[in-house]
Amino acid sequence: MPPNHLEKTGRLEFTLNGQPVSLADVPGEASLLEVLRGRLGLLGSKEGCGVGECGACTVLLEGRAVNSCLTAAWQAAGKRVITIEGLAQGEVLHPLQEAFVQTGAVQCGFCTPGMILAACDLLSKNLRPSDQEIETALAGNLCRCTGYHDILRAVKRAARWIREERP
Ligand code: FES
Ligand code: FES
Repeated sequence: MPPNHLEKTGRLEFTLNGQPVSLADVPGEASLLEVLRGRLGLLGSKEGCGVGECGACTVLLEGRAVNSCLTAAWQAAGKRVITIEGLAQGEVLHPLQEAFVQTGAVQCGFCTPGMILAACDLLSKNLRPSDQEIETALAGNLCRCTGYHDILRAVKRAARWIREERP
């Protein structure tokens, strides 16, 4: 149960990258990003702006992309959270991860986990996105390095691979 008041702490349970997680003494005001990075040591989700403007902290909550810096950890109670650490299947990269590497859409890499998870949300709903649809889906994710062109190509390439894999 979430604490009744923001000052209270409590035990938080949710599913993280397919595994159950149970954390004691989670403050009511903790963000999901703080819990992922500070309590669980998953550093793939980045803290950029901390105020919902850069998308570097994007994770999937029940399959939808959210800014984990603005999401209270307690909003994840009983729900499924996917971070970039949970996307690959063992040694096999997710098609989006593979496409980002192959197209040169990763430079410094700071924006990359958030970009990929935002794109993951898009492709779960639309495997034939137009350029405009990709741009709209990634509008909340900033990249200072790539100029976005290669990111767009990567998302389209991953969408094609996923379509071709499906019967
Ligand atoms: S760190 Fe969350 S949106 Fe920038
Ligand atoms: S690759 Fe550096 S911010 Fe996007």
